[in-house]
Amino acid sequence: MKKKVAVLPGDGIGQEVMNGALDVLKAVGDWFGHEFEVVQGDIGGVAIDLHGNPLPSETLELCKKSDAVLLGAVGGPKWKDVPVHLRPEKGLLEIRKELGLFANLRPVSTFESLLSASPLKRNVVEDVDFVLVRELTGGLYFGKPSERRGKNKEVAVDTLQYERSEIERVVHKAFQLASKRRKKLTSVDKANVLETSRMWREIVDEVSGSYPDIEVEHLLVDVAAMKLVYQPKQFDVIVTENMFGDILSDEASMLTGSLGMLPSASLREDGFGLYEPVHGSAPDIAGQDKANPLAMILSVAMMLRHSFGLKEEAEMIELAVQEVLNAGYRTGDLWNLGNGPVVGTKAMSQFVVERLEADHALSSILSA
Ligand code: NAD
Ligand code: IPM
Ligand code: MN
Repeated sequence: MKKKVAVLPGDGIGQEVMNGALDVLKAVGDWFGHEFEVVQGDIGGVAIDLHGNPLPSETLELCKKSDAVLLGAVGGPKWKDVPVHLRPEKGLLEIRKELGLFANLRPVSTFESLLSASPLKRNVVEDVDFVLVRELTGGLYFGKPSERRGKNKEVAVDTLQYERSEIERVVHKAFQLASKRRKKLTSVDKANVLETSRMWREIVDEVSGSYPDIEVEHLLVDVAAMKLVYQPKQFDVIVTENMFGDILSDEASMLTGSLGMLPSASLREDGFGLYEPVHGSAPDIAGQDKANPLAMILSVAMMLRHSFGLKEEAEMIELAVQEVLNAGYRTGDLWNLGNGPVVGTKAMSQFVVERLEADHALSSILSA
């Protein structure tokens, strides 16, 4: 298979974690005989510095001409005082909107060998396996109608609007995902207060008629936040609006042990997708070879699975990550509850590449 991948490393640790992820992509391509043409583009703060714009038109064009997009992270203190429309984060919101990536899948599964890395008890986090589906191109982030959004010295206004079609498409996506999993959908809203949430809940109930074998549960977002740490095993697919999904996914990351473990896929209907870690540019550790590259590496696996239909290749990356963790290698973030031998970003990525090469060699011997 031959595919073109737009690669946007972005800022801070985005650059560092992308390097290893590209080595992993190359290794899996060599194993299975695929050619992944990688073309780099600028987004976020680096793009502001180089082009005066967090999402230059060249970058958007590159993405549109590619089969998928890999993104590192954007943002950092260097750009904290730039005008709002030029902030690095604006580039990220725009690329999601411009590419129509309305469904953001954030899988949360715990690794057996990392159970002690979570601040929660082992029996709470073992066997956790759910996907949070976050609506990604609407809601509070996009402040419609735009003329209502703004700030002066005395008043600041953000608006939360959803159109029926925006909710329907992401809810369908979540039901379809639940159909292929354990057939349970939890919809998270704030229907006791917000009009948009009341509409969200009505639509989930309507759409559920087309998926009679899926068990549907509604949770208010505050109680959902509690249940995520109380009994996370009860979840299979969670679907929620943009802002709630942003917050709940960072919370959920700690079930796995670190924000540095969570990958994501931002998809539209035709399978085109952008793949990025859930974490940000981590300015506190940027440039120090301390970042955990696994969220980015697992995002590559998601790209292979969701955009290219390469299930086995994706599984081989996930297996290699598991083997590296089983062997005891940890970046510093995974030792949040104590001290142990720490490996850097480059070494951790290299271990995954080496595992892939070893697994490839083994499979060649076994199939000979
Ligand atoms: P962050 O996710 O960058 O970092 C939060 C904490 O988690 C930090 O202590 C950081 O060191 C740690 N962390 C994050 N990723 C890690 C990794 N891979 N390995 C080890 N530790 C990791 O959030 P923040 O500090 O609130 O935001 C920093 C900047 O990133 C802001 O400008 C924010 O807007 C931006 N951001 C971007 C994205 C994105 O590009 N998708 C996501 C979130 C935040
Ligand atoms: C994420 C990030 C972004 C978001 C920011 C950087 C705009 O936090 O991808 O989770 O809130 O969507
Ligand atoms: Mn976030």
